[in-house]
Amino acid sequence: MSLPVGAAAAPPDYVRIFDTTLRDGEQSPGASLTSDEKLEVARALSRLGVDVIEAGFPAASPDDLLAVQRIATLVGKEPIEGRPSPEAPIVCALARATTGDIDAAWRGVSGARRPRIHTFLATSPIHREHKLSMSREQVKARVSEMVRHARSLCEDVEFSPEDAGRTEPEFLYEVLDAAIAAGATTLNIPDTVGYTTPDEFGALIAGIFAHVPGVERTIVSVHCHDDLGLAVANSLAGVRAGARQVEVAVNGIGERAGNAALEEVVMALATRRRFFGLRNGVDTTQLVRVSRLVSTRTGLFVQPNKAIVGANAFAHESGIHQDGMLKNNETYEIMRPETVGAARTELVLGKHSGRHAFSVRLREMGYELSPAELDQAFARFKALADRKKAIFDADLEVIVNVEHDDKAASWVLDALQVACGTIGLSTATVRLRGPDGAQHSHACIGTGPVDAVFRAIDAITQAPAELLEYTVQAVTEGIDALGEVGVRIRGPARGGAVNPQLGPRTRTFQGHGADTDIIVASANAYLSAVNRLVSSLDAEARTVANGDGTRSARDEGAGV
Ligand code: KIV
Ligand code: ZN
Repeated sequence: MSLPVGAAAAPPDYVRIFDTTLRDGEQSPGASLTSDEKLEVARALSRLGVDVIEAGFPAASPDDLLAVQRIATLVGKEPIEGRPSPEAPIVCALARATTGDIDAAWRGVSGARRPRIHTFLATSPIHREHKLSMSREQVKARVSEMVRHARSLCEDVEFSPEDAGRTEPEFLYEVLDAAIAAGATTLNIPDTVGYTTPDEFGALIAGIFAHVPGVERTIVSVHCHDDLGLAVANSLAGVRAGARQVEVAVNGIGERAGNAALEEVVMALATRRRFFGLRNGVDTTQLVRVSRLVSTRTGLFVQPNKAIVGANAFAHESGIHQDGMLKNNETYEIMRPETVGAARTELVLGKHSGRHAFSVRLREMGYELSPAELDQAFARFKALADRKKAIFDADLEVIVNVEHDDKAASWVLDALQVACGTIGLSTATVRLRGPDGAQHSHACIGTGPVDAVFRAIDAITQAPAELLEYTVQAVTEGIDALGEVGVRIRGPARGGAVNPQLGPRTRTFQGHGADTDIIVASANAYLSAVNRLVSSLDAEARTVANGDGTRSARDEGAGV
């Protein structure tokens, strides 16, 4: 049975939420995710109720293609708590306007219950002249040809005129006309460089409705970047002008300053429902949990004052505000914390809590773990409960989200001892279990205990890592709180060839660790980043050994 696509697929007051966390979001420097992590995030997005998951850019590399294929075949098809899953989300893959990219995108999503190909070509004068060296006529011809090719493979095709915000409106209408004639079902209008203002962007969308014949048979979508901090405002202006799909990323991550934040767009539509008169399918009570998952997995921490999902988003500090809140919470609160899943249960579990209570609480919090995952998480819970008296929901989130990279190929922390203080140099002795299963030890001095630990790990693993960023924060209050550490490192990239202008190619990797002892958390965070670097170098070596010398779009530095 083929499901309706384009404008016929939903009522006119329904706004589709198109999530690009795994594509544009993953383009944030250092945010690269493993295939398992992408699948985990995609499952969380499916449970959250987004309409479209942009799963990746399959032409970028064989790994990206594989990750998109896994998401397409596995997400939205699994039963939830024994019940059949709700309607599966559309799984979409990005492609430049070339047959090779479009064919790769189709290989990525063809296994999905509801596949979509998303192809794009830049239309603004600056991109036409300097990036593409194409005339207006050539751009239109390529759009026709490639949208038609995509439609020959898939009945749901989205087209984006990249940098639409800086494209001459009359030319934009002609390009969109060509895309509709070739069979595009969604027309996405990107403000690629975050240049427009809400008035301008709203007028751009209104102009499209007024001047492009046949536009009513398609869904008009908006995709706004946040370079001037206007991505959410511009997206909402687009919706007011008639757009019925909004492209967003969890926590607003994405290229440069990022994309419009999913949680902000969704809560603006929900909180100001009467103003917008529109609805969407997102279960808002899962917003904080999904934000937390994405932040942990990408290593991109959320600022405390971030709207909706920041740690302070519902905190009231001043006496006047607290007084008002006690009298009536509507004095200073336009949404309830529980609406976005931000309410914290006081003391939930402790040392004597059993596996059943633990799994019930996780289920109440929306986590669905397999029996093996539950076993591992419960073991971590018990280890934590031995050291920490009261375990809060925030601790449970860390226990579930924290990465335990037990794969055979990775380095695992076996033992650690540090000596530090004001007398003498900080010293660390580190023992790791290597990919070969053997134990390896090393002792180092450093400028502080963390530096000494990282140096010892470098000496053992011999990974060519350069530390870029180190952050530490407490998960809950109190002296026995879990410390959460984020680490970002840089290492050589695939091919490693030197570009005379840019220098050697590099990639950044992030790692995350949590423990009541922040030195242990730091060691685990650093190791998880090093393990990613090592496995990326191993994958490169495998590609070379297999004689797969083809250069991927990512090798060519294909920015999208
Ligand atoms: O910002 C942009 O223009 C994009 C397109 C590929 C949609 O991400
Ligand atoms: Zn973008």
